[in-house]
This record gives sequence, C-alpha cells and structure tokens, in this order.
Amino acid sequence: MTDEMRPLRQDGDRVWVASVHEADVAPYGRAVELSAPRIREWNRVHPSDLIGQLSRQSEVHRTLVVHARRPVGDHAIVGVVNVFNIVRGAFQSGTIGYNSFDPYTGTGLFAEGLRLVLALAFTAEPDGLGLHRIEANVQPANVRSAGLLRSIGFRRERHVRHMLFLEGGGRQASWRDHDSYAITAGEPPTPHRPNEHPRVVVVAGTGARRPGPAGALADELGVPLLSSRIISVDLIWQVLATSPPGAVVELDPDAVGRDAVLDGLHRADVPVERALLVGELPSDPSGITRVALQARAIGLG
Ligand SMILES: CC(C)(COP(=O)(O)OP(=O)(O)OC[C@H]1O[C@@H](n2cnc3c(N)ncnc32)[C@H](O)[C@@H]1OP(=O)(O)O)[C@@H](O)C(=O)NCCC(=O)NCCS
Repeated sequence: MTDEMRPLRQDGDRVWVASVHEADVAPYGRAVELSAPRIREWNRVHPSDLIGQLSRQSEVHRTLVVHARRPVGDHAIVGVVNVFNIVRGAFQSGTIGYNSFDPYTGTGLFAEGLRLVLALAFTAEPDGLGLHRIEANVQPANVRSAGLLRSIGFRRERHVRHMLFLEGGGRQASWRDHDSYAITAGEPPTPHRPNEHPRVVVVAGTGARRPGPAGALADELGVPLLSSRIISVDLIWQVLATSPPGAVVELDPDAVGRDAVLDGLHRADVPVERALLVGELPSDPSGITRVALQARAIGLG
C-alpha cells in the first residue's frame, strides 16, 4: 500500500468504517450469501466480490467496509461502500456504490456508516480522501436507496437516461435510467434538505398555435406551464410566487401589456433581470432549445 493508499478509519456510535482488508473476505462471503436475493434486485453481487475489490484498490477506487460494533449472527459486516471514479484536479469528486447486508439491513446502521464514509471522503488527505463532491446514482424505483440518500443530506440533481446496463428487478438486462444525487463538502448534511433547483422564469406571448410551443419549452426546462388560456392572469402570478423551480408563463399580449408583466413579476417576487421576456416563441426544436438555454443563463446569472 502506497502512502496515498493509507488505511482509512472512522468510528461511530453503533458502527465503524474502515478500508477493505483481507480479513473482510470471509465474513463478506457470508453476508452476501444471506442477502443476495434482495440485493440482486438492484446490483450485481457475488460472495467472492471482495477479492476482486482488494486487487482494485487505487487512488481512483477505494472500498470502505461498515462494521457493526455489536455483531449479530455470524458476521459483522453491515455494508460495503465503493468510492470510485475518483477524479482529482478541479473536480475532486467521486461516485459511490453500496449494499447493506442482512441481518443489519433496515436498522439504520448502514445510514450511520454512510455518514462516516462521507466524513472520510471530505476529510483532507492523509486521514481522508480530500474530496469535494460525492455522487450516487439510483434507479428511480429503488425508493429505499433514494430515501436513504435524501435522509443523509444528498440532493437530487437530475434524471439520467439509459445510464447503466443492469439486470435485476425481474427484468431482462437493459440500459436503466437513474436519478443522480450528490452532496458537496461544507454542505450541512441536513436530512431531506430541499433540492434547491435554480429558478427559471420565461414570460412568452400565447401566439397563434394551440397547443403552443410553450409546453415544449416548459418540458425542456422541467418547470410548470402557467397559461392564460387556462387560468386567470391574477392566478398565474399567485401560482408563480409559490413555484420554487419557476415556470413558463404564457400570456395573451393583447390583454397583458409590458407594465402589467413587470408588475406581475414583482408580485411573484421574481427580479425582472432574472426572467426572460419573449414575444412569440419559436416553434422549431432548435429555437426552443435556444430560448431554454438563454432562460437558464439569465436565471442562474
Ligand atoms: C439501499 C440500502 C443500501 C439501504 O440500506 P438499509 O440498511 O435499508 O438502510 P438504513 O436502515 O441504514 O437506512 C434506511 C433509511 O433510508 C430511508 N428509507 C428506508 N426505506 C425507505 C422508503 N421505503 N422510502 C423512503 N425512504 C426510505 C429512511 O430514511 C431510513 O431511515 P429511517 O429508518 O431512520 O427512517 C439497502 O436497502 C440495500 O442493500 N438495497 C439493495 C441494494 C441497493 O439498492 N444498493 C444501492 C443501489 S443504488
């Protein structure tokens, strides 16, 4: 083991976390034999995995084992977390993959272990990994895993199409969509912290087309469409005020003048310089993309 590959360890109340060791191989095998049918719903797993993991330990791939302080049954391995795709330079980031093992699964011990893993990941080298950002990718149907991440402070950042080629879940092996979650150093690990998506607001004329391109723009931006074709202008500003991600606001330009729009944005607490005002939206996909990019650029400043 090189200097950079120093063993890592972090102690908690009910668990302790340490870099993988040869002594973990046998208990890991027993842990997997107990838990494999449950885990294989979501992840490939085999009793001899840890032998392969031991040989893969490097500056870009670290395996951390969560141990129970008070073991139950014939092994003490609560779970295993791989920190991989470690990228240095301006990124200082890594991705985690993990499983918890019976009889400890569902007891909160793994969550405690994952918090210790984050502490190690964000501690400066040589006592920790000195990382700035940790990402985890979860199939949307894996609510237990996603709930665990949200409960220890991860934010949901985005939906990723066809991210990993996996089997399990009673389906044939296929490219599976994932939701991407992340936490960065210095962010308080507050449980169920709001996702804090940046707010994006576009105000556009209704134009002649029905349904108009405003729907396509709302889809591109991932925000609701508030249209004066459906609800009153007064209600639009009220709804916009309570919509954290923002909205595409579609208004009839003959009925609502520029001053009324500025007043409405003010009532909705949207600084006018953070909203994109367009007359008529383009109807072609390339035009929609351009408007969406401009709206994001303005919204994010
Ligand atoms: C995901 C997994 C690692 C979680 O381990 P666990 O032992 O169940 O987790 P813990 O008991 O330590 O923590 C559970 C926390 O997750 C959250 N959680 C659990 N079930 C949940 C559900 N159905 N909905 C939302 N959140 C849920 C809760 O916050 C819970 O804490 P609480 O019980 O204090 O409320 C485990 O279920 C597992 O091994 N799954 C199979 C493999 C897998 O999915 N790996 C990850 C692939 S991305």
